[in-house]
Amino acid sequence: MHTVPNIVLIGFMGTGKTTVGRLLSTRLSMTFTDMDDVIVQRAGKSIPEIFAQDGEPAFRAMERQVAIDLSALRGLVIATGGGVVLNPDNVRDLGASGLMVALTASADVILERLRHDAGRPLLNNGDKAERIRTLLASRYALYHAIPNRLDTDTLSCETVAEKITALYDRIKG
Ligand code: S3P
Repeated sequence: MHTVPNIVLIGFMGTGKTTVGRLLSTRLSMTFTDMDDVIVQRAGKSIPEIFAQDGEPAFRAMERQVAIDLSALRGLVIATGGGVVLNPDNVRDLGASGLMVALTASADVILERLRHDAGRPLLNNGDKAERIRTLLASRYALYHAIPNRLDTDTLSCETVAEKITALYDRIKG
């Protein structure tokens, strides 16, 4: 059983959680886990299919269960889904499992990164730029309530991973 703390990456869609998470897992020899991948595995269907067939509340319930289950484990680098902050219990439980870091990016940069992406159902109904701006504004305070934040507009994913490694070394003691 691993006793080393997890690293939990929080942030809006397109802020680099998966890229940074993979870099960290290689750097630190920790197992990378993407919450959305676990949900897809458990549901046996894609994220867009879950939203279309079961609805967002069902997706959030699955996400909650994955947050509970991963919070009980250690030694993981966890890329959360962008909406994990909508449930404060997720933030509490995942935060208690290790180092939580929020990645941030501006709406323009997020749009650029996700322009050709069709896998985010919350951005696919209506004008994408408008959806990003609205959702980001509605969640801004939730991401900014997380004390450790790094901006991926201005920092490369490698630099972000380096900074998180330094933070992690400190809390690990
Ligand atoms: C969501 C973000 C997605 C995925 C789902 C909902 C959100 O994860 O969980 O489409 O509410 O922000 P990523 O942040 O990995 O894209």
